Amino acid sequence: MRETIEIAKEVLKNNRRSGYTLPTNNELYPAQWNWDSAFISLGYSYFNLEYAIVELEKLLSGQWDDGMIPHILFHENDESYFPNHKTWDCGNKIPSSGITQPPIIATIIKKIVDQNKLNQSQLKRMKTIIKKLKKYLDWFFNYRDINKIGLVSIIHPWESGLDNSPIWDSSLDKVKIEENLKYERRDLNVSRSSNRPLKKDYDGYITLLNQFKKDKYNPSKIVNDSLFNVIDIGFNSILIRATKDLVEVAKKFNLDFTDLKNKISKSEESLIRFYKDEEQSFFSYDFKNHNLIKIDTISNYFVLFANLQNEDINNKIINKLKEYNSQTEYFFTTVNPKDKTFEETRYWRGPVWINTNWIIYQGLLDKDKNFSNLIKNKTLELLENKKFHEYYNYKTGDCLGANNFSWSAALYLDLKLNN
Ligand code: DGY
Repeated sequence: MRETIEIAKEVLKNNRRSGYTLPTNNELYPAQWNWDSAFISLGYSYFNLEYAIVELEKLLSGQWDDGMIPHILFHENDESYFPNHKTWDCGNKIPSSGITQPPIIATIIKKIVDQNKLNQSQLKRMKTIIKKLKKYLDWFFNYRDINKIGLVSIIHPWESGLDNSPIWDSSLDKVKIEENLKYERRDLNVSRSSNRPLKKDYDGYITLLNQFKKDKYNPSKIVNDSLFNVIDIGFNSILIRATKDLVEVAKKFNLDFTDLKNKISKSEESLIRFYKDEEQSFFSYDFKNHNLIKIDTISNYFVLFANLQNEDINNKIINKLKEYNSQTEYFFTTVNPKDKTFEETRYWRGPVWINTNWIIYQGLLDKDKNFSNLIKNKTLELLENKKFHEYYNYKTGDCLGANNFSWSAALYLDLKLNN
C-alpha cells in the first residue's frame, strides 16, 4: 500500500528537528530518546541514509565520558517536559537524563550496515559509531553487571523503556517515597490520564531520580544506593542480542571485539537460569528484594530476540507465546489479558505497541517462519488500517497515546520494505 509508505515517511520528516527526530509531534516528548532514535534511524535508512546516520551521530554526541548513552537528550534545552534537563541536572555538555535505555541501537546498526551500500565517508562515520557503541556495551558490563554473571541491572523503571509495566509494581512499592516530594507532571496536559502512569508511579520515579542526583550520577554509587534494582529479562535479551550483533558488524570494519564476544556464553547461561519450567516462562528478578517477578508480559518473550542456543527452551516459549493472545483481535498486548494486572488502555500495562511486536518478530524469523509471518502481517494490517499511533487498543485497534508516532512509522517501513 504505497500511500501508507508515504504517510510513514511524512511522519518521520515532520517530526525531524536539527539532526534528530522527536518520538511524536505533539508536546508529550519534546526531545531525543535513546531507543526511539534507533528505531527511527532504521526507518530513515529506507529512504534517506544520510538522515539515518545523522540521527545516530546526534544520539552518540550525548554519550557520557564513562560510555553511557542517556535515555533522553535535551538538545534544545526545552523545559516543557517533565523531568527536563534542569530536573536531572547532570552537568553534561549536552543536557540529558542520567539513566539509559535498552541498547537496541547495536542491532539496528547491524541491519543498516547489512542492508545498504555505504559510501567511503559513510563507512568511516559508521566505524566511529561502532567504536562508541563498544564503549556503551562495555559500560553495561563494567557498571551494571554487579555479580559479574553477564547480566545487567536496571535501576529505574524508565531504563526498561516499558515505564509502568506491572513487572516493576512490587519493587516500586517498596521504594520509600521521599518526604515532601514536590514536582509537577506535564504529561497529563497533553495526554489522557487513563492512558498514563499513576501518581504513585511518578512518586517512585522521582524519588529514584533525586537519589541519583544526590550521588552526582557516579555510576558505581548510583547502583549501590539505588532503591530499585531489577535484572530484567527483556532488557538483558536486547543486550545479549546487541552484543552478538555488535561483534558481528565490527568484523566488517576490521575491529576485533573478542573481549565482548567472550561475554556471550556466560550471559546466555545466566539468562537460562531465569527460565522456569513449571510456567514455561522466563521471569525478571528483583535483585534488591530477592524475588522472582512472576507476571506474564510480552517482554519476557524477548528472549527469542536474544537468539539463545537452546532449541528446546526456544520451542517451549514459542508454544507459550502462541497461547498468549489466542483470544484477541490484535496482538501482542504488553501484558497477558488474563493477568490481574492487565489494563486495556494504560501505557505499558496492556495496549499493543509496534516496537514490541517488531522485537518478537525479529526473534522468530529464524525459528518459526509461519508464526513470524503472521505477526508481520497482523502488524502491517493494524498500521495500514489505523496509521501511526503510540499504542493501540487490543480489541478495536483504536489509537491510544500520541498520534504521528515516529517508531510506529519507522518500523512500518522496515516490516513493509525489508525483503
Ligand atoms: C515518559 O515521559 O513517559 C517517558 O517514557 C520517560 O522516558
